[in-house]
Amino acid sequence: MTILITGGAGFIGANFVLDWLAQSSELLINLDKLTYAGNLETLSSLQDDARHVFAQGDIADTELVASLLVKHQPRAVINFAAESHVDRSIHSPEDFIQTNIVGTFRLLEAVRHHWSALPDQGKADFRFLHVSTDEVYGSLSAGEPAFTETHAYEPNSPYSASKAASDHLVRAYHHTYGLPVLTTNCSNNYGPYHFPEKLIPLMIVNALAGKPLPVYGDGMQVRDWLYVKDHCSAIRRVLEAGTLGQTYNVGGWNEKPNLEIVHTVCALLDELRPKADGRRYATQITSVKDRPGHDRRYAIDASKIERELGWKPAETFESGIRKTVQWYLDHPEWVAHVQSGAYREWVQTQYAAA
Ligand code: NAD
Ligand code: TYD
Repeated sequence: MTILITGGAGFIGANFVLDWLAQSSELLINLDKLTYAGNLETLSSLQDDARHVFAQGDIADTELVASLLVKHQPRAVINFAAESHVDRSIHSPEDFIQTNIVGTFRLLEAVRHHWSALPDQGKADFRFLHVSTDEVYGSLSAGEPAFTETHAYEPNSPYSASKAASDHLVRAYHHTYGLPVLTTNCSNNYGPYHFPEKLIPLMIVNALAGKPLPVYGDGMQVRDWLYVKDHCSAIRRVLEAGTLGQTYNVGGWNEKPNLEIVHTVCALLDELRPKADGRRYATQITSVKDRPGHDRRYAIDASKIERELGWKPAETFESGIRKTVQWYLDHPEWVAHVQSGAYREWVQTQYAAA
């Protein structure tokens, strides 16, 4: 048995690969373009593991995807590959349209052609699981109920609009062609191997380097946070037992304002790696100009996946964030390596005017 995943050198994809191979003897084909966000060093423990086959390439390369499908005959495709950073989508949306919309479309086309030629049993057993985000639902005001799967799509950034378009294409391939699809819409993830352009790893890395901790606007924007390994277990569960054509919201029931997240990270660092000068890391917090069109609040109602598939997160925010901060303290070499090249240039562009 074999599965094919895309984007498996990124943050969530790589955590998924590591968890999957820790529990399964199935062959895993990992197709990743290795953009700035793809980092094979995360998967270095699998270098000599024959169950992990890496292919560098683009999900929009139909011929490449078709050849991987023919060669490896996977029972499932899980699509993690995407441009994923909202701020980058504001500066240069083109890549988001190309990968998240055109790329998903081409991937769906290649999978559809392959799937439609399978024998009946292979067709019935096949799955295409699309990994998406809660950001497609738009922004909530303070008192509004959390997003359910029937909430209207109201994406506000080029990132969320491109993910929304990809979700619609996945849905359409089920309704039009009968492709056996599943979609997950997950809240903000955090955990090991998270690229330090996103809030939590950026704060940890900057704090340790004695740099400012840039909080956008008033810092009272709310996100729902889920430990990445819980997201991976939800995807495994949906793949195993999800109803075809359905979408599942995945979240941690952990709504928190950004400023509280940053203070929590600082307090953990004060405890685990006190500053030599005796000062508190929170003194490095700096308010910077807000993100344009910044969504005020995301909140996920994850009761459907719990009720129908029995999935619940294993980590609380307190346990997950402690593990995460400890992981970054234990892996300075991983951080140092991703901070070279493209990443450094990006950080300069983003924060130069702040
Ligand atoms: P990431 O940016 O860390 O990784 C994306 C990976 O995709 C990288 O390895 C990159 O090289 C690869 N990639 C990009 N374009 C590609 C292309 N055209 N062809 C092949 N590979 C390509 O992203 P992530 O945080 O791991 O997110 C993974 C998925 O989960 C995305 O679809 C994202 O929208 C979704 N998601 C992320 C979060 C989150 O909090 N990070 C939350 C919910 C959903
Ligand atoms: P981010 O990690 O980029 O995820 P998303 O925008 O997909 O939710 O940002 C999480 C929140 O943190 C978001 O409200 C923006 C905010 N933020 C900051 O305040 N400062 C920063 O330097 C970054 C990267 C994000």
